[in-house]
Order: sequence, then structure tokens, then C-alpha cells
Amino acid sequence: MMASLPDQFHALVIGASGALGAAFVALLENSPRCASVRALHRHSTPSLDFADEASIGAAAAALASGPRFHLIINATGLLHGDTLMPEKRLADLSYEKMQALFLVNTMGPAMVLRHFTPLLAGERAIMALLSAKVGSIGDNRLGGWYSYRASKSALNMMVRTAAIELARNQKHSVLVALHPGTVNSSLSRPFRGESIGRPADVAARDMLAVLDTLTPDDTGSFRSYDGATLPW
Ligand SMILES: NC(=O)c1ccc[n+]([C@@H]2O[C@H](COP(=O)([O-])OP(=O)(O)OC[C@H]3O[C@@H](n4cnc5c(N)ncnc54)[C@H](OP(=O)(O)O)[C@@H]3O)[C@@H](O)[C@H]2O)c1
Repeated sequence: MMASLPDQFHALVIGASGALGAAFVALLENSPRCASVRALHRHSTPSLDFADEASIGAAAAALASGPRFHLIINATGLLHGDTLMPEKRLADLSYEKMQALFLVNTMGPAMVLRHFTPLLAGERAIMALLSAKVGSIGDNRLGGWYSYRASKSALNMMVRTAAIELARNQKHSVLVALHPGTVNSSLSRPFRGESIGRPADVAARDMLAVLDTLTPDDTGSFRSYDGATLPW
């Protein structure tokens, strides 16, 4: 795995308490080519909670004295909660649901872009933000899940726009939105994720293999776990 990242690369996983985040950390910890893995989540030290905007910059500042990262993966995301289920119809929409999903799926990751892109290693670095194929406007045939879809579409725009800015001053960096496929996790479980989803470690391995193929020419793209480029 990871033939294109430098030997003894440094990695950071944000959202490391989730199924995919934890799977990425475990794979990287066991990779002989990975020199170090930092793992951030709501209960790590330093902690990073999107509900606390200041915690995002503070977490980045705490890591700034360490090595620059050749690989940063943001694996945070929200689809449902105790009182929150994805909308099936327009009548289900509310500010409360939209704000909850946009905070975790769009605004938090956008602040991750703001605070963590300066920590990328200059010579060769890949940053991937986990998105979702249901955020593809061109691929939307089923409807429903309004806020989740829209928050991931907005995330994709953040990634694309940041990639254009990054290409000006960090031209060896690659920034992508990455779709993991359906994965068995707490996020997918109410939607048959356990029966139709792949194990998180399999999905994480697939995605690391795709990241390994990317070059700076691929920056600003929306990729699937199988390497396909997805429509916006
Ligand atoms: N599973 C799938 O089938 C699937 C399909 C398509 C896309 N995705 C995307 O893949 C990514 C990872 O999904 P997953 O299946 O691994 O989900 P997961 O197991 O539910 O993990 C979600 C992660 O997001 C974190 N998070 C939630 N709210 C947060 C907040 N306010 N501040 C900081 N972190 C917060 C969680 O932290 P806590 O542990 O503290 O709650 C956890 O680390 C998400 O972006 C998801 O949209 C998943």
C-alpha cells in the first residue's frame, strides 16, 4: 500500500473515534511505511469538537510543533441522531436538522481545511475528506435525505474551492473528497448498513489504496473507494 507517499510518512486522522476513522488509524499504525499517526476526535487530547469552533484551531495549534503531515484524513460525519433521522420528504425539513447536519458535515470540515492545510508537508501530501456519493447532484435519482445530501454537496464545493487555492501555494498537495461506499458503522446501521455495508477495515484499505494512486493533477476531485471519479 501507499507506494506514492514518501517512506516514513506522518499521518493524521480526524474523527478517529468513528468506524472508518478507527480503521484508518489501525491500518496506518500497522504500516511499516508510516512513521507516526496522530488521532483526533471529540475525546482525544487535544480534543476536536465541531460544536466548539475554537477547539478546531486549538487542536491544529497543538499539533503544529510536531512533524508536518503527508496524509490527513477527515473521517467525521453525521447522518442521524437520537432525535434526528434523514428527511424523506420536504415536510420533514427543519432548521434544527439542517443546522445539525451542516455543522458536522460541512462547517466543521471546512474549518478543518482552514486550520489543518497549513500542517501539510510541502514536498508531497494528500488530504482526503470523507464525503458521500449521495452528495452528488448529478447522481441523485432517488431523492430524500435532503440535509445529508446537501451538506455533503456543500462539503464537496468546499474541497474543490480549497483545492484551487491550495494549488497556488502548496502545489505538491492533493486535496480530494472521498466516498467510502456503504460501510457497516453506527452511521449506516439504521439503514441496513450491517447487512449491505462492507467492514470498515476493508473500506479503509480500499480508500488508502486509491489515495496512493493520486498525483497533484488529481487535486480537487471527488473519488470513490474503487478509484472512480464521481460526478459533482
Ligand atoms: N458508513 C457509511 O456507509 C458511509 C457511506 C458514505 C459516506 N460515509 C461517510 O464516511 C464518514 C465516516 O463515517 P462512519 O461510517 O465511520 O461514521 P461513524 O462511525 O458514525 O463516525 C462518525 C465520526 O464523526 C464524529 N463526529 C460526529 N459529530 C462530531 C462533532 N460534532 N465533532 C467532531 N466529530 C464528530 C464522530 O465522533 P464521536 O465518536 O464522538 O461521535 C465519529 O468520529 C462520514 O463522513 C460519513 O458521512 C459513510
